[in-house]
Amino acid sequence: MTQAALAALDGALAARRSAGLARRRRIVETVDGVRVRVDGRDLVSFASNDYLGLAGDPALAAAARDGIKRWGVGAGASHLVSGHTAAHQALEDELAAYVAPCAGARALSFSSGYLANLAILTALAGRGDVIVADRLNHACLNDGALLARADLVRYAHGDAQAAATRLAAASKRQRLIATDAVFSMDGDVAPLPELLALAENHDAWLVVDDAHGFGVLGDGRGSLAHFGLASPRLVLMGTLGKAAGVAGAFVAAHPSVIETILQTARPYIYTTAAPPLLAEALRAALRAIRDGASRRAHLFALVERFRQGAARLPWRLLPSSTAIQPLVCEDAARALSLAAGLAQRGFFVPAIRPPTVPAGTARLRICLSAAHSPGDVDALLAALADLAAGTRGAVA
Ligand SMILES: Cc1ncc(COP(=O)(O)O)c(C=O)c1O
Repeated sequence: MTQAALAALDGALAARRSAGLARRRRIVETVDGVRVRVDGRDLVSFASNDYLGLAGDPALAAAARDGIKRWGVGAGASHLVSGHTAAHQALEDELAAYVAPCAGARALSFSSGYLANLAILTALAGRGDVIVADRLNHACLNDGALLARADLVRYAHGDAQAAATRLAAASKRQRLIATDAVFSMDGDVAPLPELLALAENHDAWLVVDDAHGFGVLGDGRGSLAHFGLASPRLVLMGTLGKAAGVAGAFVAAHPSVIETILQTARPYIYTTAAPPLLAEALRAALRAIRDGASRRAHLFALVERFRQGAARLPWRLLPSSTAIQPLVCEDAARALSLAAGLAQRGFFVPAIRPPTVPAGTARLRICLSAAHSPGDVDALLAALADLAAGTRGAVA
């Protein structure tokens, strides 16, 4: 029995490999800003979500060291037992005041965005309810809907009209719209004002996953601030391991929503609190985000520089004005060979393949950071142009 079961696993793994879909972890040996040593090679990384360059910031590291002195290294228990420290509470209060999705909002901190989305959806939806979701949402929003046992109905990407049709057809008890604010593999921004209007018309919650907007858009406050939105219907999730440079996530919303998550959400209740030293580092990150106007201006100048250069390349550049700049080359094997070609030329850029993106849309996911220089971007563009010339040569 064991032999047959193992052979079945090996067969499935071999099929994955031959379809060019096997994944492998690269070992990062050293990090110095965007300069990394990976699998023995020195590369400039365009692979990280550290959009503001805060992951290596000395002020955050100093706050973490002070946090260790005060709290030690572990929280020791879940938030509802004994793991909720004054550091977590201060972080939550500061986050709530900063992102303010509605008047008097509260925030709750989590050790990951994945858990935060599971908690939101299981607290606000259950069997018999409907979650109307963008087709390109991050996997953890879909998994949250599964865990909630709610009906998951997906609408065409970025299409508020399609969401309206889905909502109108849903005669369920509680309705909830769930969307990424900045789509993680495409970089475009959801039509949040239209979706909030829909939520109001249909008496629904609007859950906004701002993993890639917090710290970057809306002068740092994120995608809701970018559009000037606030409402007690909004449930905002932001991650703290991307632009904030550390780890974890938060949910900010009306106090009744937050209290419901705290009292009922199993992904909140049954897990150990993140180390308080991280909460201290995050409080420093929040200060850096608040004072980060020049980092953001530099980042957006790099985005513009990259887009102008990439428009001349043979691959489809998606319409993104954020730090996520995907180049779609369609075929998984081609994406892998381009990523390998970039590594040979000194750049770390991940190839993203199905099932993370839809079949036929494999891509290079190029992430820009305030830690890059204009020269880094120009060098990446030159390497891409070199690969493009090689591709054209091969075709001709
Ligand atoms: C859109 C989106 N939501 C949620 C997550 C999960 O966040 P975390 O990595 O903190 O679990 C990610 C990234 O991994 C993401 O890209």
